Amino acid sequence: MTDSLIHEAVITTLDPSGNAHITPLGYRCEGEQVILAPFVPSKTLDNLCHHPEAVLNFTTDVRVIAGALTGRREWPVTASTRVQVPRLVESLAHWELEVVATRDDPERPRFVCKRVVEANHAPFTGFNRAQAAVVELAILVSRLDWLAPAQVRAERDYLQRAIDKTAGPREHEAWHWLSEAVDAHPRHGAAA
Ligand SMILES: Cc1cc2nc3c(=O)[nH]c(=O)nc-3n(C[C@H](O)[C@H](O)[C@H](O)COP(=O)(O)O)c2cc1C
Repeated sequence: MTDSLIHEAVITTLDPSGNAHITPLGYRCEGEQVILAPFVPSKTLDNLCHHPEAVLNFTTDVRVIAGALTGRREWPVTASTRVQVPRLVESLAHWELEVVATRDDPERPRFVCKRVVEANHAPFTGFNRAQAAVVELAILVSRLDWLAPAQVRAERDYLQRAIDKTAGPREHEAWHWLSEAVDAHPRHGAAA
């Protein structure tokens, strides 16, 4: 049975030129297996079809998530242990994955993966509301073409409170990048 719990992580995949592609992605577990569900179309989907390995990077640097949605994907990566896909240098932990099966779906094909390496690099030091707020705004930014401007405005205003109260410099920077993307969008920005 599929676990309904979804975690958000940063996935690295390998493109046909051999470069790492970094993007935020939700994942679920089915027992020991990890399920990835990239949308059609996406570069992560193309890369997984081309090279059936990935790394899930568990980072609290939310600039990586905001950066992927705002054209800032140049984060330091380093070689993984068992897979050819590089991992983020800065993460609390990472899992190296091999695709063992695929399930067709017209919108979100599923990639069933085996964890071949699990490595810890730094301790988890607690939840931060500003990091959660950045993740929520990132999800809104990834859906700006569909969402109603009033919903985005109300949710951003609510999330802003967690930024004002609990953000550090990284969270402020990530929030700024995402806010700029909302403001520059033809349906959501000041000019709309
Ligand atoms: C927190 C978060 C979780 C996401 N989860 C998924 C996901 O599970 N599948 C997916 O295709 N895109 C997901 N996205 C959107 C992708 O990161 C990305 O914007 C889009 O799919 C393009 O991906 P690409 O870089 O592989 O082309 C998520 C975005 C955020 C901010």
